[in-house]
Amino acid sequence: MSINLASLPVSSASAPAQPWRVGLIGFGCVGQGLYDILQQRPEAGFTISRIAVKTPDKVRPLPAGRFEFDAEALLNDDSLDVLVEVIDDADTAFRLVSEALRRGRRVVTANKAMLARHLPELVQLQRAGQGTLLYEAAVCGSIPIIRTLDAYFGAEPLRRLTGILNGSSNYVLTRMGEDGSDYAPALLEAQHKGFAETDPTLDMGAFDPRSKAVLLAAHAYGSFLNPEEVLNLGIEGISAVDIAFAASNGQKIKVVAGLQRLADGRITALVTPQLVGPESPLYSVDREFNGVVIEADFAGEQFLQGRGAGGHPTGSAVLADLAALRQGFTYQYSKATTPAEYASDLEVEIYLRTDEDRLIDLLDFSEISEEADEDEYVVGYVALANLIRHRDTLRKYGAFIVRTGRLRPVSTEVFTAEILA
Ligand SMILES: NC(=O)c1ccc[n+]([C@@H]2O[C@H](COP(=O)([O-])OP(=O)(O)OC[C@H]3O[C@@H](n4cnc5c(N)ncnc54)[C@H](OP(=O)(O)O)[C@@H]3O)[C@@H](O)[C@H]2O)c1
Repeated sequence: MSINLASLPVSSASAPAQPWRVGLIGFGCVGQGLYDILQQRPEAGFTISRIAVKTPDKVRPLPAGRFEFDAEALLNDDSLDVLVEVIDDADTAFRLVSEALRRGRRVVTANKAMLARHLPELVQLQRAGQGTLLYEAAVCGSIPIIRTLDAYFGAEPLRRLTGILNGSSNYVLTRMGEDGSDYAPALLEAQHKGFAETDPTLDMGAFDPRSKAVLLAAHAYGSFLNPEEVLNLGIEGISAVDIAFAASNGQKIKVVAGLQRLADGRITALVTPQLVGPESPLYSVDREFNGVVIEADFAGEQFLQGRGAGGHPTGSAVLADLAALRQGFTYQYSKATTPAEYASDLEVEIYLRTDEDRLIDLLDFSEISEEADEDEYVVGYVALANLIRHRDTLRKYGAFIVRTGRLRPVSTEVFTAEILA
C-alpha cells in the first residue's frame, strides 16, 4: 500500500505559512551562493528581502536597486524574520551580530574568525536575551559538524575529534604529494583555481583551521578556548623533502586539527601538519575537501567528508541553519555545564626541518630519536609550551614542523602512544 505524503498532517512549527523574510548582510561568495540557492528553491520558504553591502560603485550581478549600504538599517527592520551576516570583516561582524542578539533577533553567520574570538560573549548574549545565533557554515562549509556535535552528541562523551578543516592548505599538500612539486607552484595553482586567497596567511599559517577548532571544542567538550592558547603551525616552510619523508613511511602530510580528551579528563587542541597513514579516513581527504573523524565513547568512530568552502556548499549550510531556526532549533552547549579543562603541560613528538641549528636549541628537545644532517631534520619530543611560545620565530625562519601524533605528559612517560588520526 502506498501512502500519499501530501495527505499527512504537517507540523505547524515547520509549515512555512509565509516565506520568512531574510535580511542579507554581505553579497560576496557566500551571500551570492545563498541567494542563488534560494532562487532555485523558492519552496524552501525564504525570501531575501533586503541586501546590505559595503561598496556603492561595485558591479554586481543584480540590479543596483536591490542593494543598500547601511547594514544597521537591517537590524532596525522588525519585518525581517532573520538576519544572515556573511561579511569579510570580523570586527564589524561582531558589532552587527552582537547588536542583533541584544535586540533579540535571529542571526546566522559564517564568520569563524569573529566567532572564535567572541563566542563566550555571544553565548552570554543569547542566554540574557531572546536572540538566537547559528553558524554551521563557519566550520567545514557543507559538513553538518556543529549541529552533529551539539545536538546528536550533546549527551555523549567524545574521546577525540580530528579534522582537515582547511581546503586551501589541503589542496596545496595534495598537489605537492601528487607530482612532487614544491610549495610555491602548488600555492600559485591553488590561487589560480580559486582555492586559495591572494593573501594566503590565514589558510597556510593554520589560523583559519585554529578558529574552527575553537568552535568545535565549545560543542564537543564545552570548553571555550582562547584561540591564542591553541598551537597552530602552518605549511609555509614545507618542501618536497618533507613530502618524500612522509611517503617513505607510507604516510601523507595533512594539516590536522586534533582535539583529544586525556586520561585525566582534560583536553588538548593542536592544529598543525601531521603525518597521516592509510589507516585514517583523513588519509583520503584530498584537494579542497574537508573531513572530520568523531570518536565517541559509545557510538565509536564516525567520519564526515565534504566541501568546506565555496558559494553553494557554504550557502547550503546557511540554508540548513535558516530551516533549523524556523523549527525553533538553538544550540544547547550542553557540555558547557561541566567544561573540560584545557591542558598544555604536554610534550609533542615532532619532525622539525630547519637549517637554523639555534631553532633546535630554542625548542629544547627533551628527547631526540632521529637526526639526519644531510636533510637537516630531527625527530623528537618538545614541550607544547615551547612550541606555542616560539611559533612566530619558527614561522619567521621558515622551519617546517609535522606532528607524528604522539603526545606525553612533560614527565616523559608515554601515555598516548597511538597515532591521533
Ligand atoms: N568563501 C567561503 O567559501 C567561506 C566558507 C566558510 C565561511 N566563510 C566566511 O563567510 C564570510 C563571508 O565570506 P565571503 O567569501 O563571502 O566574503 P567575500 O566574497 O569577500 O564578500 C564579503 C562581502 O561582505 C560585504 N561587506 C564587507 N563589509 C561590509 C559592511 N560593513 N557592511 C555590509 N557589507 C559588507 C562586501 O561588500 P562589497 O560587495 O560591497 O565589497 C562583500 O559583499 C567570511 O566571514 C568568511 O570567513 C566563507
